[in-house]
Amino acid sequence: MNIAKTIEEVRSQVNSWKKEGYSIALVPTMGYLHEGHVSLIKRAANENQKVVVSIFVNPIQFGPSEDLASYPRDLDRDKILCEGAGANLIFAPEASEMYYVDAQTNVSVNGLTNGLCGAKRPGHFNGVCTVVSKLFNIVCADKAYFGEKDAQQLAVIKRMVRDLNFPIEIIGCPIVREADGLAKSSRNNYLSTDERTAALILNKSLNSAKELLLTHEKSAENLTETIKKQIQSEVLAKIDYIEVVDALSLTAIDLIDKPVLVAIAVYIGKTRLIDNFIWQSK
Ligand code: PAF
Repeated sequence: MNIAKTIEEVRSQVNSWKKEGYSIALVPTMGYLHEGHVSLIKRAANENQKVVVSIFVNPIQFGPSEDLASYPRDLDRDKILCEGAGANLIFAPEASEMYYVDAQTNVSVNGLTNGLCGAKRPGHFNGVCTVVSKLFNIVCADKAYFGEKDAQQLAVIKRMVRDLNFPIEIIGCPIVREADGLAKSSRNNYLSTDERTAALILNKSLNSAKELLLTHEKSAENLTETIKKQIQSEVLAKIDYIEVVDALSLTAIDLIDKPVLVAIAVYIGKTRLIDNFIWQSK
């Protein structure tokens, strides 16, 4: 499988596929692929005739004190996983290919980015929306596939696509977990053995919240407290946020009487992990 390094190479390949009448999918990633990404690529390959996977550690979505330099990279391994999952082309540009040094344009979504990761990572979603817009314009795919683990990212991208009339369909795909429940993430790679065990507290605390919801708990505060207590019982964990928000607007709610997103971000040592679930009250 070919690895395209330039926008021109991708466009030329995609144009020839389009002339043949093929449907095209895009799976945007930052590489160091895991089974979560593989599930996106497999689904994209099932639902489309050609799949482009972009692998680009996008510098503009990282804050100054974040892990851009240490973010794991392994293009050879990624290529094998992409091939196995049914991808047809990898787009792996350098930052200089993606960004003009004198670029003056970025894409920002307001409102939906105010809370959760948006509040904790200033500028992050501008970086995401800008690179995703560029990828959409470069690849011109019919559909793009994103994981539900980044629930806010998925909501923001869907809104951006709606608001700016991008001719692309956004498909959200379920979180893929390790056998013990830890959500798959490239950042799990940073965890020491003890931290890996401690990281289970994310999924455990969300499961406790689900159990409480099954008892018809309607208070967002009680839910937050339950999650908080669980996470605080783990010495290696430090809460970044615990949020119970309206699943559509991502605004805080008090009463759980409509679909809610329960989302958490937790530092395990120096590694920041996120996890979530959506609850639809019956
Ligand atoms: O979810 C990610 O890996 C990134 O935020 C994305 C969508 C590839 C944009 O860089």
